[in-house]
Amino acid sequence: SNAVKADLAHVLYTKEEIQARVEELAAQIDKDYEGREILVVGVLKGAVMIMADLVRALNSHVTMDWMAVSSYGSGTQSSGVVRILKDLDSDLMGKHVLIVEDIIDSGLTLSWLKSNLESRGPASVEICALLRKPEASKVQIDVKYVGMDIPNEFVVGYGLDFAEKYRNLDCVGTLAPHIYQ
Ligand code: PRP
Ligand code: MN
Ligand code: MG
Repeated sequence: SNAVKADLAHVLYTKEEIQARVEELAAQIDKDYEGREILVVGVLKGAVMIMADLVRALNSHVTMDWMAVSSYGSGTQSSGVVRILKDLDSDLMGKHVLIVEDIIDSGLTLSWLKSNLESRGPASVEICALLRKPEASKVQIDVKYVGMDIPNEFVVGYGLDFAEKYRNLDCVGTLAPHIYQ
């Protein structure tokens, strides 16, 4: 079959489960920011789906901006050395910044990104990630909003890719072994 969902071995979270959790996160964020304007920063490309759904579920005033970073050297292992491929258009001075990510794996990308954005004079910097893997606990990083803690499995969908594919799935799942072998 050439249907994208047919490549999944197991669905971890359905479209409905993700939407319900994103709405809970949005309600919590609206409450915490108490009517303050939020500068929501999405990390390309994985965060596009959660960004689009989260901001539409918020009642707060928001502005949106995007960053693209590369956390990998020559190998496939995350090095912790992050390069900015596309920087923000906005000045962060005095702003309440909320970084939005699809997943925290090693935590190295976000740990670097958070301190980088904190150095630009914002009023605050918090993180919202849909998914978090257990590895992230090895890095000291304060993540205020987490959708779901997941096991250490390779997951795709809802922004998450395998070789740039599967981002368009409306659910999150594991790939069938024959796909990556
Ligand atoms: C993935 C994911 C996070 C990051 C997490 O992005 O979307 O941004 O890796 O990894 P870490 O916690 O180990 O640093 P990727 O670099 O694959 O780029 P993409 O968003 O364009 O897929
Ligand atoms: Mn990413
Ligand atoms: Mg990726």
